[in-house]
Amino acid sequence: METVVSGIRPTGNLHLGNYFGAVKSFLRMQDEYNCFFFIADWHSLTTHPHPDNIRNSVKTILSEYLACGIDPEKATIYIQSDVPEVVELYLYLNMNAGIGELMRTASFKDKARQQLHISREGCEGDVEKEIFNEGNKHSVSAGLLTYPTLMAADIIIHKALKVPVGKDQEQNMEMARRFARRFNSTYGVDFFPEPASFHLGNKSVKVPGLDGSGKMGKSEGNAIYLIDDEKTIKKKVMKAVSDAGPTEPNSVKPEPIANLFTMMEIVSEKETYDFFNEKYNNCEIRYGDMKKQLAEDINKFCAPIRERILDMAANTEYLDKVARMGAEKARESASKTLNEVRQIIGFRPY
Ligand code: TRP
Repeated sequence: METVVSGIRPTGNLHLGNYFGAVKSFLRMQDEYNCFFFIADWHSLTTHPHPDNIRNSVKTILSEYLACGIDPEKATIYIQSDVPEVVELYLYLNMNAGIGELMRTASFKDKARQQLHISREGCEGDVEKEIFNEGNKHSVSAGLLTYPTLMAADIIIHKALKVPVGKDQEQNMEMARRFARRFNSTYGVDFFPEPASFHLGNKSVKVPGLDGSGKMGKSEGNAIYLIDDEKTIKKKVMKAVSDAGPTEPNSVKPEPIANLFTMMEIVSEKETYDFFNEKYNNCEIRYGDMKKQLAEDINKFCAPIRERILDMAANTEYLDKVARMGAEKARESASKTLNEVRQIIGFRPY
């Protein structure tokens, strides 16, 4: 079975967009591949979270993924910081990674710009210049610079062939392939395979936001979370943008309306969708009724997951057990790779 690795940044609760965009394909992958899914808590240090923050968000992610059906018997679910082998590989990769190539990555520049408080509109050389200013000498961390090497280590420590990631991770993936190749050529070995991005593809659904345009996202402030209760869901859906309704039969749906229908297609029965679609085409649609139905169907979908999330979160013992089991399996795979890496470089095996 091919190995798949994916890291999940611990940032807040899962929403419907995450579920249909990513989690659902994880559920499919865990049956077809040797999967390693981990919580990237070391990566989160680039934004300097408080220890309580880290503890809580790791617990949240774990409870929510398990509640969605990620199965610790099928996939290896672990916390990055439980696998110290990764940092050792990160060190080796950093020895052959160039400051220049790391500084040129778009995500480094973006995040450095934020940390230096310079606007996006600044000219190209701004980031480099500001970083070396006396007053800024520790504003941008070396950890931020080497984010792509850590990500490469996460992936190649398990010799993964496939990495399910969003399009925004393409440059990081390019770097991971480059560092894998460089290790091989530096030591004249054919040891690390090059990991390919696995775009969650056509089968994953883009969940729209209900605020008129665009997709659902945490930063867009238009998300419906899996943990939202019935009342919250209803409030969010009833507030969704709509309009006065079509005036001509079979009109093209404007984006906010199309989004309501897309959402309905995702969570409701086909009959429900067809019913409202026909009303729309006859110009008899009442958006109030449609939203009420949509809220009900979203709740029907979320309620069992929500219940499981609450159960999981209350069961610290179980969460600990899952994390311990995952760490053990991940370390077994990681230490096998690392032992060989140590010998290739010229160090003793453990
Ligand atoms: N950089 C990824 C993100 O921002 C998270 C991540 C860290 C990751 N390590 C990884 C993803 C390894 C896939 C594989 O979403």
